[in-house]
Formats: sequence, C-alpha cells, structure tokens
Amino acid sequence: MTGKTTGKIVKLGLAALVALSAAAAAAQDMDRAVKARKSLMTLYAHYLGTLGGMAKGEIAYDSAKAASAAASLAAMSTADQSAMWPQGSDNATLGMDKTEALPVIWTTYPAITEKAKALAEATVNLSAVAGNDLAALQGAMGPVGASCGGCHKEFRQPKG
Ligand code: HEC
Repeated sequence: MTGKTTGKIVKLGLAALVALSAAAAAAQDMDRAVKARKSLMTLYAHYLGTLGGMAKGEIAYDSAKAASAAASLAAMSTADQSAMWPQGSDNATLGMDKTEALPVIWTTYPAITEKAKALAEATVNLSAVAGNDLAALQGAMGPVGASCGGCHKEFRQPKG
C-alpha cells in the first residue's frame, strides 16, 4: 500500500467517524427533545390533577394552593417549546415505544401551535381567578381540559 493510499483510507475513516458522531449527536438531540416535551406534559398533568381534584370536590378547595397550582400551570404552558418538537420526532419515524407524537404534527405545522396557544390562554385565564373561590376555579377549568383533549385528539396516539 502506498503512503498516498493509506492517507486516503485514514481520511475516509475519519470522515465516516465524523458523520457517525454527527448522526449520534442528532439522535441524542432528538431523544432530549422528546424527553423534554413528555416531561412538560407530565408537569401539566401534575398541576391539572390538583386543580381538577379541587374542582370536583375530591380535594378540599384551598385558595392559596389553587392559585399556586394555576400559576404554575400557566407558567408551564407559556414556556418556550420551540426546540421540543423537531421534525422527524414522530412515532412513525422513531417508533411507538419512543413517542406518541403523530406525523400529522409536522405535515400540518403550524396547526399544533394554535392548540398550544389555546392552552396557554386558558391557563392564564384560570390563573387570574383560581384563588378567588371554588366556583371561579370550576368556571375556568373547562377550557383548560378542552385544550388538553383537543390537542391530544388530533396530534397524539396513546399507546395500547
Ligand atoms: C399542543 C398540543 C398539546 C397540548 C395543548 C397538550 N398536550 Fe399532552 N401531549 C401532546 C402530544 C403530542 C403528546 C405525545 C408526546 C410524545 O409522546 O412525544 C402528549 C402527551 C401527553 C402525556 C403523556 C406524556 C408521556 O410521558 O408520555 C400526558 C400525561 C399529557 N400529554 C398531558 C397533558 C395535559 C394534562 C394537558 C393540558 C394541561 C396537555 N397534555 C396538553 C400534545 C399536547
């Protein structure tokens, strides 16, 4: 083997390594984005659980706790999600075991952002009144639950 050929092979090998690590980094970014949005959803469910429990009378209404949970939910739903939904992070590409996000999110984009905006508005409205009294909390809960459900119906495919 001539020195020139060896040099070529080493160069090719390095290029393949660089390409490989770029692909690995992209996969890791994708995993992080999916993990971040699922975590955000888990937090939504956490605060909604407290608020829904109070609204249904399963948890005693507490003005300060209701106001705090609603403010937290509003903060979560107005948080920057722009890097949490990269193209290609759907369940047809990554598999059902990785994500429940449907490909339609990206073929109809930015339709999903309207759903996110609806939730943000509903939670900001809820946050403004949740600490007033139980009736005010109950009155403002409907649009919040409808926003969660409305987005899931179109854009999420639950497992099983
Ligand atoms: C803008 C659309 C949208 C809105 C609004 C929305 N969700 Fe989701 N939700 C999704 C999508 C898409 C998934 C699937 C994400 C994935 O698996 O990558 C999901 C997944 C979830 C999950 C499962 C998380 C996991 O670990 O797999 C829970 C729980 C959840 N959402 C709760 C809620 C609650 C509660 C609300 C309202 C307060 C809400 N979501 C509002 C789109 C939305």
